[in-house]
Amino acid sequence: MKLGFLQMRCKFGEVKANVKKASNLLGKVSDATIVLPELFNTGYLFKNKGELKGLAENTRTGYTVSEMKKVAKKKRLNLIFGMAQKSGSKVYNSAVYISDKGKVDVYQKVHLFDREKLFFQPGTALKTVKAGDATVGIMICFDWIVPEVSRVLTLKGADILAHPANLVLPWGQSGMKIRSIENGVFSVTANRIGVEKRGTMDLAFTGGSQIVNPRGEVLVSAGDRSESLKVIEIDLEEARNKNITSGNHLINDRFPPLYASLGRKSRK
Ligand code: ACM
Repeated sequence: MKLGFLQMRCKFGEVKANVKKASNLLGKVSDATIVLPELFNTGYLFKNKGELKGLAENTRTGYTVSEMKKVAKKKRLNLIFGMAQKSGSKVYNSAVYISDKGKVDVYQKVHLFDREKLFFQPGTALKTVKAGDATVGIMICFDWIVPEVSRVLTLKGADILAHPANLVLPWGQSGMKIRSIENGVFSVTANRIGVEKRGTMDLAFTGGSQIVNPRGEVLVSAGDRSESLKVIEIDLEEARNKNITSGNHLINDRFPPLYASLGRKSRK
C-alpha cells in the first residue's frame, strides 16, 4: 500500500488558508494513506479557552472536515489530520480519519502536552481504523511518550501508527523509532515546521517527519525547513510477522501478569 506524510507550515488562526494549502498539496497524489500534522488547520499556541473555542469545529459538519472530505474522495486518499474538535461545551485535541469513501472517525488525544491541559479535554479511548487492508492506530504527538499507547494500539491489531504531531522536544522522532521496533509496526510522524509567535509566547516546531519500518529504519524523512509531501510503498506483511528470531515472538513472548502494576496511576 502507499503511505505518506504531509509536513507543512501552518499559520495561526488562518483555517481557510491552512486547509486550502493542504488540499492543494494533497491534490498532487492519489490512492494513498496520508498523515498530516496535529492541529494543522488552526495552529497551536492558543492564548485562552475563548480563542480555542472560536477556532474549534464540529467534526461532522465543520468546514475543515467538509473540505478534506472532498479531496479524500476525489483523490481516493485515506487522510488522518489533527484539528480542534468542538463537542458540546468541550474542546478536544483530535485526529480525524477520513476514508477514501468519505467515512469519518475521530480519536481524541489522551496525553495532553504542557499548556494543552489548560484548554483541552483529554480523550478517554484509544482508536484503530481500517484504511483499505491496513489497520491504523492513531496517536497524537505527546502520546508517543507513553509506550502503553502504541502497545495497546498494536494489540488492537495496528499495522501502522499514524502520528500527527507538533513536536517541539527534539527526541520525539527517535522515540517513534523505538515505538516501531518494540511493536513491530510501521509508524508515520507528520510534523510541522516553522516558528509560531503569539504575544510573548513562541514555539519552534522540529519538522523531521518520517516513516519508520518495523525494524526502526527510517524509510523516508523530511528536513526541518521545508514543506514536504512524501509517499512510499510499504508491505504490510512486514508488520504482521512478529517473529523476531525462530524462537522469539514479539507479542507472545510477553508475561502480562508481571505487568499488572501498569494499571496503577502513580509510582509506588
Ligand atoms: C505535543 O504534544 N504537541 C508536543
